[in-house]
Amino acid sequence: MSYAIVGFGKIGQALAHAFARRNIEVTVASRHPPEALAPQARAIGPTVVAKSLRDAVEADTIILAVPFWEHREVAKALPSWEGKTVIDATNTFGVSPEELDGLPSSAFVAKAFTGAKLVKGFNHLGAATLATDPVVEGGHRVVFLSSDDEDAIAPVAALAKHLGFAPVELGKLNEGGALVHARGRAWGPLIFQDLFRKEL
Ligand SMILES: NC(=O)c1ccc[n+]([C@@H]2O[C@H](COP(=O)([O-])OP(=O)(O)OC[C@H]3O[C@@H](n4cnc5c(N)ncnc54)[C@H](OP(=O)(O)O)[C@@H]3O)[C@@H](O)[C@H]2O)c1
Repeated sequence: MSYAIVGFGKIGQALAHAFARRNIEVTVASRHPPEALAPQARAIGPTVVAKSLRDAVEADTIILAVPFWEHREVAKALPSWEGKTVIDATNTFGVSPEELDGLPSSAFVAKAFTGAKLVKGFNHLGAATLATDPVVEGGHRVVFLSSDDEDAIAPVAALAKHLGFAPVELGKLNEGGALVHARGRAWGPLIFQDLFRKEL
C-alpha cells in the first residue's frame, strides 16, 4: 500500500508527522514544486518525500488536506480514480448546505473523485493536536472514520492503527459522518473531541 498527502499545510504536516513517527513512507504534495516542500518534508522525517501532485496521486491511498473547494482541482489530476482510496480530511465550516447540494460534505467531495473509495477521517481535531503523538499514557487517540462504501473503511482503519490512532467506525456519511462534519455555522458534536481508547 502506498500513501500520499495532498496539501502540505497545517493538517498535511500534522499527518506527515504521524507517518514519520512510525517510519511509514508517505509522499507529500501541494501546488508548489517538490523542491519547495522538500526541506520541510525532510525536517519531519526521512520517510516523508515531497513529489509533484501528478506523481503523488500515483499512490493507492491519498489523504486530502487542502482547503475544501480545492478538492475539485486535486480531482482533475487523474482522469479516473478507479482503484484509489481517498481519505477526506477537509472541513466545510462556513459553507452552506445549499452550496453542497444538500449533501454531506464528503459525499460532495466523493462526486469529484469518480471511481474512488472515499473515507471521511482525520478531520475532527485541530492540526496542533493531530500533530502530536497519538499514543498517550498507553491510550490511543481516537479518529472517526465514515464512508458510504462498506469495503473502504477497513484498510483506512488499519492505517490509522498503524499510525497509533484508535479508529472508531461511524458508518455512512449521512449518519455517523454527520457527527464529525462542519457545515454552515455548525460543528458536528464529535468535532474537537480529543478522545482516547485504552485498547486498539
Ligand atoms: N487547520 C486545522 O486545524 C484543521 C482541522 C481539521 C480539518 N482541517 C481541514 O483540513 C484542510 C486543510 O486545512 P489546513 O489548515 O491544513 O490548510 P492550510 O494550512 O492552508 O494548507 C492547505 C494546503 O493545501 C495546499 N493546496 C491548496 N490548494 C491546492 C491544490 N489545488 N492542489 C494541491 N495542494 C493545494 C496548500 O499549498 P499550496 O498553496 O502551496 O498549493 C497547502 O499546503 C481544510 O479543508 C480544513 O478545513 C483543518
